[in-house]
Amino acid sequence: MNKKTILSGIQPSGILTLGNYLGALRNWVTIQHEYDCKFFIADLHSITVRQDPKVLRENTKRAVMQYIACGLDPQINTIFVQSHVHEHAELAWILNCSTYMGELSRMTQFKDKSQKQENVGVGLFDYPVLMAADILLYDSDFVPVGEDQRQHLEITRDLAKRFNSTYGEEIFKIPEAFISETGARIMSLQDPTKKMSKSDPNPNGYISLLDSRDVIIKKFKKAVTDSENIVRYSDEQLGIQNLINIYSSITQKSTSEIEREFEGVGYGKFKVAVGEVVADALEEIQKKFYELNSPEYDSFLTEIYEKGAKTAHGIAKSKLEQVYNAVGFVSKA
Ligand code: TYM
Repeated sequence: MNKKTILSGIQPSGILTLGNYLGALRNWVTIQHEYDCKFFIADLHSITVRQDPKVLRENTKRAVMQYIACGLDPQINTIFVQSHVHEHAELAWILNCSTYMGELSRMTQFKDKSQKQENVGVGLFDYPVLMAADILLYDSDFVPVGEDQRQHLEITRDLAKRFNSTYGEEIFKIPEAFISETGARIMSLQDPTKKMSKSDPNPNGYISLLDSRDVIIKKFKKAVTDSENIVRYSDEQLGIQNLINIYSSITQKSTSEIEREFEGVGYGKFKVAVGEVVADALEEIQKKFYELNSPEYDSFLTEIYEKGAKTAHGIAKSKLEQVYNAVGFVSKA
């Protein structure tokens, strides 16, 4: 039986966070046997915001290690680096030509990110089109992402339908977002109205997958909450709501179970309890990561992403040929 195709990626713009893990990676691990999975490191996307070249190279390799340390099996998944498959950038160009400025201007992620920059690059504006290209090249059925990517999936679907109807063929499969119920929206520990992000200038706002147990507990102790001192899931208590979400996402306990568990207990103890379960969950991942992060594993890792790029390129090449043919380009051969 043909397996359905899953595709997703993470930007190497820093060490991955608890948000990336609970919103994306952890779900990838649970579905990896059921689907034909392609997971990539979105390095082309990451340069929409200025990156230090040395750090970017390091973070890209570390992202591969973190994928594997989190439990992705390189034997059954295609793991690759986005810039190794040039068709992503090429298809983005084609899709650009049928994307409207207005629809890109409405993207909330663009609005947020562009406010933080003095000079806004065209790449940042165009980010969702490249993302659409990533997804459409592989006939992806499902795209497992966090809630913040829902809008990008919607525009991907719109672009695919528009292209198919313009050229009168079912060239692109229409993908669906795959967003889990828990963990899809982990917020900053310092400002629970903003999502937890690896590019947050304040490291107390996020938990990195590589933070030590002490640092994790310290960050949770410092998490911004309120003065109610009641562990209750409420829109009036966004900081506590976020901590309950994290605790629930890791322990699989329901919010009402958690409220009962911490009834009459102050925030201090609750914060430490959340820190403990997070540190426990990350312990194995860190052990595996540090094992992989040594020169003796260099060639093992290189082989994984080179093999991944080869497989990905085979698929992407034939999809791009179909597209070039549909738009009327003269074939090379
Ligand atoms: P990135 O690197 O920002 O995020 C990677 C994945 O982590 C999820 N995520 C979160 N989930 C819950 N809470 C959070 N605080 C949190 N922060 C991040 C994101 O939703 C995402 O699933 N644009 C993508 C990268 C990308 C991509 C693609 C994804 C490029 N092309 C094609 C899927 C398909 C992104 O936001 O990366």
